[in-house]
Amino acid sequence: MNYIGIDLGTSAVKLLLVDGEGTILRSVSRDYPLSFPQPGWSEQEPADWWAACVQGMRELLAGTDPALVAGIGVGGQMHGLVALDENDAVIRPAILWNDGRTAEETEWLNTAVGRRKLSDLTANIAFAGFTAPKLLWMKKHEPENFRRIAKIMLPKDYINYRLTGVHSCDFSDASGMLLLDVKNRRWSAEMLEICGVTESQMPRLFESYEVVGTVKPELAASLGLPGSVRVVAGAGDNAAAAVGTGTVGDGACNISLGTSGTIFISSARFGVDPSNGLHAFAHADGAYHLMGCMLSAASCNKWFCEEILQTKDYAGEQVDITDDKLGRNDVFFLPYLMGERSPINDTDARGTFIGMTMGTSRADLVQAVLEGVAFAIRDSFEVAKSLGIRIERSKICGGGAKSPLWRRIMANVLDLPLDLPQTEEGPGYGGAMLAMVGCGAYRSVPDAAAALVRTTETVFPERELAARYEAAYRKFQKIYPAVKNLFRELQQTGG
Ligand code: XUL
Repeated sequence: MNYIGIDLGTSAVKLLLVDGEGTILRSVSRDYPLSFPQPGWSEQEPADWWAACVQGMRELLAGTDPALVAGIGVGGQMHGLVALDENDAVIRPAILWNDGRTAEETEWLNTAVGRRKLSDLTANIAFAGFTAPKLLWMKKHEPENFRRIAKIMLPKDYINYRLTGVHSCDFSDASGMLLLDVKNRRWSAEMLEICGVTESQMPRLFESYEVVGTVKPELAASLGLPGSVRVVAGAGDNAAAAVGTGTVGDGACNISLGTSGTIFISSARFGVDPSNGLHAFAHADGAYHLMGCMLSAASCNKWFCEEILQTKDYAGEQVDITDDKLGRNDVFFLPYLMGERSPINDTDARGTFIGMTMGTSRADLVQAVLEGVAFAIRDSFEVAKSLGIRIERSKICGGGAKSPLWRRIMANVLDLPLDLPQTEEGPGYGGAMLAMVGCGAYRSVPDAAAALVRTTETVFPERELAARYEAAYRKFQKIYPAVKNLFRELQQTGG
């Protein structure tokens, strides 16, 4: 049998057709627009996601036997607010995970409700991208729209709804709403009340590998799929990527260099970071994880190459970053192009180059961008270490992981061996694996991971280079605290 794994990303949807042995038979990608209606805002049209998914599935299945498809699993960008009215029509564009408009609501939640209480109720504090502050924003700024909400969904749940007609959500993705009692895997009645919504407006909760329904008959007919195709609840893209890279069980780690950058530490038991710098979420394997998320990772390199240098030749831009330059860059880059989440939680933070001289080259700036992202991931890694978590090695996935240079920089900045799985398409592959479990091809997510995920290459840290990067990281750590207040001032003066 075959399985479709869908990664509903921020810049594109990527679809994989995977056979029962885990071989990727075909892959298709479809872009859709991302709009920034005001500085720091970030929105997308759910109709664009759906159109791209349907066109993508058509293309994926063309020339194959669709009757072989047994299941579909979606991993999707997390936290986005999709609001449906009583006819299940989308009320307004989705407000995405990297949208920073809710600074006020986030501050209110963390101070008036209080970090302690939020953490007791949901295992997390409020971050601007989370769904609960978005609901509060909508209640205040768009009361008409807020009153019309009949169902609250996350991005991939909207796709599952269009596929099956069922309003569902899985625990990993629901964790990022700040509405879930993560420990007990149920909606928090108190949080729903704080946000002015009721449980009837929430989707039904499932484990990621559980089947929520089958593909609607008319859709199945139009795609040539059998009516029996099962759709599993799927997962937030990071949990799906963790599944896809075999990051399951206790103490395994995955780093994703996508639009966002994340460090994901899976855990057999529920646990909360007392500083709440890391998110404490449910995992798609039925257990839990801790995660640090930076808002702009591979997107910093994309922005710098495409918008500033006006090139799509990312590899070409890295050719002049020769061995002797690694760990010796005088230029530093703060990668806060969309503000920042983990661990600094600052919507006012901005991207910043510092340390240039007349001798600074184009390649130095590209290098600073790659290094700045690695240093910012290290900030979250440091929080994990401070909790006594021992991480001995990590997987790495996402578009940024395609660059051997960036992988090497990451391994040395973190001083950690990094394993590259055979597919860096983490969330899509994880989605297909969840579908396999839902269809009974494997008994559990860890079983599927053990059978299907292989490492193709490991990048080891090099002693001298890691030491140079250690010294560089100490310098990097001083930059944000020095400009933090200035960022806020610049925002207030509209600068
Ligand atoms: C995780 C997060 C991002 C998005 C990206 O908390 O906000 O990684 O899921 O799609």
